[in-house]
Amino acid sequence: MTGTEHLILGIESSCDETAAAVVAGGRHIRSNIVASQAEIHRTYGGVVPELASREHLRQIVPVVREAVAQAHITLGDIDAVAVTQGPGLVGALLVGVTYGKVLARSLGKPLIAVNHLEGHVHAVLLEARATGREPDLPAICLIVSGGHTVLYSVKCSAGDGAAHFLYSKIGGTRDDAAGEAYDKVARMLALGYPGGPIIDRLAPYGNAEAVRFSEPKMTGNPYDFSFSGIKTAVLHHLRRHPQLAPEIEARRQALLRGERTADRLRALSSQATLDLIASFQRAVVSNLVAQTFATLREHATRSIFVSGGVAANSELRFVFQAEGGRRGIEVFFPSRALSTDNAAMIAAAGFVRFMAGDSADPTLNAEANLPLA
Ligand code: KG4
Ligand code: ZN
Repeated sequence: MTGTEHLILGIESSCDETAAAVVAGGRHIRSNIVASQAEIHRTYGGVVPELASREHLRQIVPVVREAVAQAHITLGDIDAVAVTQGPGLVGALLVGVTYGKVLARSLGKPLIAVNHLEGHVHAVLLEARATGREPDLPAICLIVSGGHTVLYSVKCSAGDGAAHFLYSKIGGTRDDAAGEAYDKVARMLALGYPGGPIIDRLAPYGNAEAVRFSEPKMTGNPYDFSFSGIKTAVLHHLRRHPQLAPEIEARRQALLRGERTADRLRALSSQATLDLIASFQRAVVSNLVAQTFATLREHATRSIFVSGGVAANSELRFVFQAEGGRRGIEVFFPSRALSTDNAAMIAAAGFVRFMAGDSADPTLNAEANLPLA
């Protein structure tokens, strides 16, 4: 069997998605199953760690079974089990790590430990290859999700016949992640959870120039991010505009009745609210794009990768592509399905490690703060 045919089962349980996928040769997705817990955490406006662990326990076996069935294989056909070791919620990670360990052992196949952030980088590579493109490395990678907003330089070395990816961190958030800001602002405005997709849908109806947010002021690393200031600015804006309170209450009631479509929430939003939403998104997107392109001053590269849940955002995609086009830089995004948490990206990252003979010890443990670089 050649390397391109190896089948990796990926398992992901770092946050609120229980996911399993089968990827062949590190590039062909045979199945990609994601059981989202959004419905469960929605009531609380954010992920509740205890509930997440319990739900992963309930879902892990059927999700893996479904991934194997949809790939039209049996567990015995798998060459390795790749599992997210961290970073993430420790109780959530433990479910995937424990299950992965037991499965790999019972199948007599290697267990591969994958860093969740490395998975997001590989989501970009998976997508690029699926569309017949091979990105130029080194690349700058922005990972922007509910848990992370971080910039890495990504290189690949092909020593001893196997590829090794090398990461170095350029900057990261000092406080909230960008997705966290989306979720918190959506909560203040009673737009439901998660906040990113609904703000993405409503922003085009507002005037993005209407509300001015000041740029975060920071000393030290110029490539760092800060999103807690904009979240507080939205809160202050709402305090200064108490006339917006009744519609917030009306949307809260609508959400309680299960009315959460963009059309319904838009009908319950004044132009002033839509303007606030558009201005918030414009400020976040401009900051993410500006900080990422600023790294080119010091890092020679022809490709930028953008991955993580917020990479699904339409305005972010549009502005990144436009700026890339202007500067002659190719910008790569995963498909929307591969932008948010999934296990195909874990299997793809695991494949590279598998080919390099980099398998994990049976004593592997979940690591909530596992760094990538
Ligand atoms: O990568 P992900 O699924 O999980 C983490 O590792 O955090 O990202 C989830 C985050 C949430 O904060 C969600 O609001 C945000 O991604 N998100 C979006 C969009 N879709 C999801 N943010 C902006 N626009 C979107 N279309
Ligand atoms: Zn993620």
